[in-house]
Amino acid sequence: MEVVIVPDAAAGGELIAEAMAQLLRRRPDALLGVATGSTPVPIYQALKAKVRSGAVDASRARIAQLDEYVGLPADHPESYRSVLHRQVLEPLGIGMNAFMGPDGTATDVQAACEAYDRALTEAGGVDLQLLGIGTDGHIGFNEPCSSLASRTRIKTLTEQTRIDNARFFGGDVRQVPHHVITQGIGTILEARHLVLLATGENKADAVAATVEGPVAAVCPASALQLHPHATVVVDEAAASKL
Ligand code: GLP
Repeated sequence: MEVVIVPDAAAGGELIAEAMAQLLRRRPDALLGVATGSTPVPIYQALKAKVRSGAVDASRARIAQLDEYVGLPADHPESYRSVLHRQVLEPLGIGMNAFMGPDGTATDVQAACEAYDRALTEAGGVDLQLLGIGTDGHIGFNEPCSSLASRTRIKTLTEQTRIDNARFFGGDVRQVPHHVITQGIGTILEARHLVLLATGENKADAVAATVEGPVAAVCPASALQLHPHATVVVDEAAASKL
């Protein structure tokens, strides 16, 4: 695992956007696994600036979703599909036909999870998977004690994660869905390059457990230690307990 400490979130965003740009120059139709939350926003902003300046062409990139709420209509502003459309697809000039994600509105959620897991493999696998990290060490929506071999499946959010995410739902935790679909940890580990960004002091404990703790299901992000090409980018605040 490679750990890179950067001064702040903007520098982390720039570093990772440049890695994505280099990948797209080598492989214009790369499959990029993208994450939601506030952490990756500087990455998307930096990548958008590169596209606007002509430094990279992202129009042939393919985008794969990491996780999704169950039960939110696809056009709900906080469904992760909508968020990614707003933050990634539209700014980078990528059409919905190049987007793949799990169906959080499916009546047979289990079948939707299996179909998405299969679709990722059939698409050739994810070239670069962006990850954020929850304050409890979760990646995607794999909460603590998720199996390190898990595949895409339905999960129940912890109260802490629902509280953390309430800010996207007008601060009202009751509006945050209880259930989600997430790529499993085993699924995530199949991406060729994993890039986790963590910023802010509230992530310092989770970062320390991820980087210096044992590989253990209590900290799902520690599974990155098992991956042959994992990069953890942290700002100084998130690195403060290393
Ligand atoms: C959610 C997402 C994760 C994300 C986490 C942290 O739980 N499912 O992918 O990493 O939030 O979010 P933030 O970056 O806003 O702290």
